[in-house]
Amino acid sequence: MAEHVTIPDHMLAAIASHRQACREPMAAFFYDLPALAARGRAMKAALPPGVELYYAIKANSEAAIIDTLAPVVDGLELSSGGEIARACACSTPRPWVLSGPGKLDADMRDAMTRGVEAFHVESLGEVSRLQAIAASLDRLQAVLLRINPALPPDLSSRLRMAGTATPFGIDEAQLADAVRAVDDAPNLTLVGFHVHAMSHQQCEQRHQRLLASYLERWPRWRALARHPERVTQLNVGGGIGVNYLQPSAQFDWPGLCQALGQRLEAMREPPLVRFEIGRFLSAFCGYYVIEVLDTKVSHGEGFLVCRGGTHQFRLPAAQGHDHPVIHLPREPRRASAGERRPWTVVGQLCTPKDVLSRQQPLQGVAVGDLLVLPLAGAYGYNISHADFLCHPRPDQLFVGDSREARRPQRAEPVS
Ligand SMILES: Cc1ncc(COP(=O)(O)O)c(C=O)c1O
Repeated sequence: MAEHVTIPDHMLAAIASHRQACREPMAAFFYDLPALAARGRAMKAALPPGVELYYAIKANSEAAIIDTLAPVVDGLELSSGGEIARACACSTPRPWVLSGPGKLDADMRDAMTRGVEAFHVESLGEVSRLQAIAASLDRLQAVLLRINPALPPDLSSRLRMAGTATPFGIDEAQLADAVRAVDDAPNLTLVGFHVHAMSHQQCEQRHQRLLASYLERWPRWRALARHPERVTQLNVGGGIGVNYLQPSAQFDWPGLCQALGQRLEAMREPPLVRFEIGRFLSAFCGYYVIEVLDTKVSHGEGFLVCRGGTHQFRLPAAQGHDHPVIHLPREPRRASAGERRPWTVVGQLCTPKDVLSRQQPLQGVAVGDLLVLPLAGAYGYNISHADFLCHPRPDQLFVGDSREARRPQRAEPVS
């Protein structure tokens, strides 16, 4: 059974007031922007000297989320032309890098003309395309080579981008060739290396060892360059996991930062280390709130059929977990006198896969009650198949946003 999270009073007030304004049963995302800023500040404050924090906007690229985090973090990590447009519309301009496989020439050119700080290069083919574009713009462009290093099996997580066959980065065995290709490209300059090896890393000790394995190899990687003195950056990616089932037991970020600081202090020429974190920054600020439309029992199993579903919040289905559910009864006194039983929480889609959570013990649930799914601020709405069955998109409410025009906002297709 999933452990529950408490909902702050100002979020409960925002949910209640939106509900009053809804003419139809509600399904909406609420984002706690002050909590998001506070989390960003706390994560940044824990960093040791010589370490930077970028926000990987793929986790949640809504304008209000980027605007809230941008003043707090050191920069943004982007992976598409659409993300470039969103980052460039941000009210606090920050440095940004462009990464990801399958970069379009048009996006690389757009990035250069809009002042990209560096590219994370994924392949030898990308080196030559980037060189041609930089030459046509008469620009000297900083690049980091993304490495797919060999990794010991005990350092892996559920979702691996490195240490195995993947479309990401350059195999360590081919790194010397890639470094030579960049060194030979007159319009490119190698400034560092990038490794984003995994998602959902929940174990701080394991992540420490992973970072240590990069730092051990760093002098060797750097020595491959014709001008090692220019190679100063090691981007260690994101990938810190969120414990959705036990929200009180989260990854020990301060512990990781402390251990990393000690390791860097012991190095003769430490790199500038950069994290590009998505999930672990934005997950905690989001709440997906859905209304119970129907209650039923089928073959002995209780179902709560709710407004919305996995087409708006695909995360639990994508990760294969039972998301925590908090019950907000319309009539609390009636609910506390009602029967407690396990419920499977489903949405409005015509597929048995539209399950948000299984077997949640809830008391006195009735049609018209609200269910709140917390930890919904990262890879929630934006990874979902929102147009399936032509349901309207959910509202997104940014609580604590100084610009009133942003509240509420009908979700736009993610470009
Ligand atoms: C290159 C790269 N950097 C950073 C991230 C962010 O990862 P996370 O949200 O797990 O921190 C991703 C996510 O897939 C990524 O592909």
